[in-house]
Amino acid sequence: MYMRKRIFSGAQPTGQLHIGNYLGAIKNWVELQDDYECFYCIVNMHAITLPQDPKTLRQKTLDLARIYLAAGVDPERSTIFIQSDVSAHAELAWVLSCQARMGELERMTQFKDKGKGNAERAGVGLFTYPILMASDILLYQTDLVPVGKDQKQHLELTRDLAERFNRDFGETFVIPEPFIPKVGASIASLADPAKKMSKSDENANGAIFLLDDADTIAKKIKRAVTDSGTEIKFDETRPAINNLLTIYQLMTGKTQAECEANFEGKGYGALKGELADAVIEFLRPFQERVKQYDDAALGAILEKGAEAAREIASATLDGVYKKMGIS
Ligand code: AMP
Ligand code: TRP
Repeated sequence: MYMRKRIFSGAQPTGQLHIGNYLGAIKNWVELQDDYECFYCIVNMHAITLPQDPKTLRQKTLDLARIYLAAGVDPERSTIFIQSDVSAHAELAWVLSCQARMGELERMTQFKDKGKGNAERAGVGLFTYPILMASDILLYQTDLVPVGKDQKQHLELTRDLAERFNRDFGETFVIPEPFIPKVGASIASLADPAKKMSKSDENANGAIFLLDDADTIAKKIKRAVTDSGTEIKFDETRPAINNLLTIYQLMTGKTQAECEANFEGKGYGALKGELADAVIEFLRPFQERVKQYDDAALGAILEKGAEAAREIASATLDGVYKKMGIS
């Protein structure tokens, strides 16, 4: 029987999703559904590595499921589920935490960022976060993990943990590969092109959220910082314009050459105007679709997803326990 290769990815139900999350990750999730068996998870157990209001977290978990669906993740073809519905994620994370080393976790740059450099005060869960991520991926014998560039280091750790386990206990896990898009893997903040666009940007104009209304989008793009010079060309030494052009390219589906030709002889005002139109046009139907799913429909999709996920995850976990002599 022909077996399709497997994909796993996820996003945290915190903050608001922005076009960086979409262009760096979710857009690819949708495209990969045709050729792979896909698992797309709402990683609420990762969310609690930082303080969350319980009521808001529950709401955001369902909202994120709506966003996956509205973006085009098809529950008939892909498995969509909530991480906490499958207890094997926490169980395998414990096992892997007994294999991982303090030193390898200490090297994770995201911990340094999110822990604000204060390890004494940071939560232990924030420190072991990448182990839970490795558990997510390895439970499904995943071949490919579509993520933005900021997750590359976590994927390398996942591969190291899988290789070590296979070596010490015998072949158990598929070694996953990252899938990082050539264009869009790191969309920058509109307010500061040296930083990535982020859910927690202090500057409210830095990120365009997927649910922003048209006026807000236009305003944020109008205020976006630009570089010196006037030419509108893809040029990494001019990161602000490069970022705006990249967003334009991905939103319109044009090639780089077509984008440059479109703006030849035009100024930054034109770039911002046309970019705002492209983003607004792109998000309008998406925002309509987000409203389509009521709680009952959503509940059914997530329950079906959890069942399918549990079956595969518990088979992997059983194998792990047997190999370690704990079952
Ligand atoms: P998160 O919201 O942190 O769970 O991220 C969900 C996905 O979006 C991950 O695959 C990230 O790598 C990706 N992502 C987050 N920020 C950006 C960005 N600024 N540019 C591209 N991809 C991003
Ligand atoms: N750490 C990822 C992020 O912040 C989210 C995530 C958790 C994930 N588990 C995963 C991504 C497994 C891919 C695969 O973006």
